[in-house]
Amino acid sequence: MKEKLEEKLKEFENIKIDSIKKLDDLKVEYLGKKGVMNEFASKMKELSVEEKKEFGKVLNETKGKINDILEETKTKFNEEELNRKLENEKIDVTLPSTKINPGSVNIVEKIIEELESIYISLGFDVVEGPEVEKDLYNFELLNLPVGHPARDEQDSFYIDSEYLLRTHTSPVQIRTMLNNKEKDYVRIICPGKAYRRDTDDAQHSHNFTQMEGLLVGKNVSLAHLKGTLDMMSEKLFGNVNTRFRPSGYPFTEPSVEYDIECFKCHGKGCPLCKNIGWITVGGAGMVHPNVLKNCDYDTKVWNGFAFGFGIERIAMIKYGIDDLRVFYTNDLRVLKEFNKREVI
Ligand code: DAH
Repeated sequence: MKEKLEEKLKEFENIKIDSIKKLDDLKVEYLGKKGVMNEFASKMKELSVEEKKEFGKVLNETKGKINDILEETKTKFNEEELNRKLENEKIDVTLPSTKINPGSVNIVEKIIEELESIYISLGFDVVEGPEVEKDLYNFELLNLPVGHPARDEQDSFYIDSEYLLRTHTSPVQIRTMLNNKEKDYVRIICPGKAYRRDTDDAQHSHNFTQMEGLLVGKNVSLAHLKGTLDMMSEKLFGNVNTRFRPSGYPFTEPSVEYDIECFKCHGKGCPLCKNIGWITVGGAGMVHPNVLKNCDYDTKVWNGFAFGFGIERIAMIKYGIDDLRVFYTNDLRVLKEFNKREVI
């Protein structure tokens, strides 16, 4: 019986255990209730007391050996399984992180922010007005009554006979004056969108951005206006020569165009300034007495200046862009490129 047991052990030792299932099956087959080892145990009753003692010892040792082999193999399997898992879920901490595409501020927004900080530092407030505007504020009270020829220059999107999409940011002047009569002065800028029935091309867009400026006070002069705009130009474009050129707007008297000397050719003439040597930044002037009167301001006491610039135009000058459409086509490559380009 002892030899048989040794044989069984050898047989067991030669079995190739290649899976957990096989291992579990072998455990049942050899160590289970009806397993090989228990079969030997049940046969022990045929032996003498002496033999029983001796065989019992060998049987226990054999059981122990089988159990050890099964346990060792199980540990090996568990380790292998764990290693496989670790290998699959391995994180290479030396890998560069996921590529991200940081956004950038739109160039129009960037110019607005720059202008706001310049004018805030001069004591101006930033105000906004509605884009759907009353004809009354957009034209009428700005000294542009029905039938005025200048209305045709601002071909408009009318909603009905009373409302339209504002053609410029100048109506915010009116709204601000009407609402601040009790103040000693009015000092505001109003950036925002404006709309005109223009055909889109390199220089025009049916939707564009403007910034209006208005200062109402006592003894305000054209020199105050020039000084204010020059301060802005220096911050925006650096140390450049500037000039006023006579112009005509219904809401200002006198009216001027505000030019800066071309910073590329310094007045000599080049493609950027179309060989003029000067670049127009926008329109300006002293608030027309009719506008002040329309808003109930006593023209013997009050006067002021106003100005209006196209933001895209300033961006085009500052960044050397020759086609206004790039601001609206949402080509990320272009927008990123301009963000990198600080020409001045
Ligand atoms: N509103 C004018 C436009 O859209 C710009 C402008 C010119 C505004 C002169 C002003 C001004 O306040 O004084 O063309």
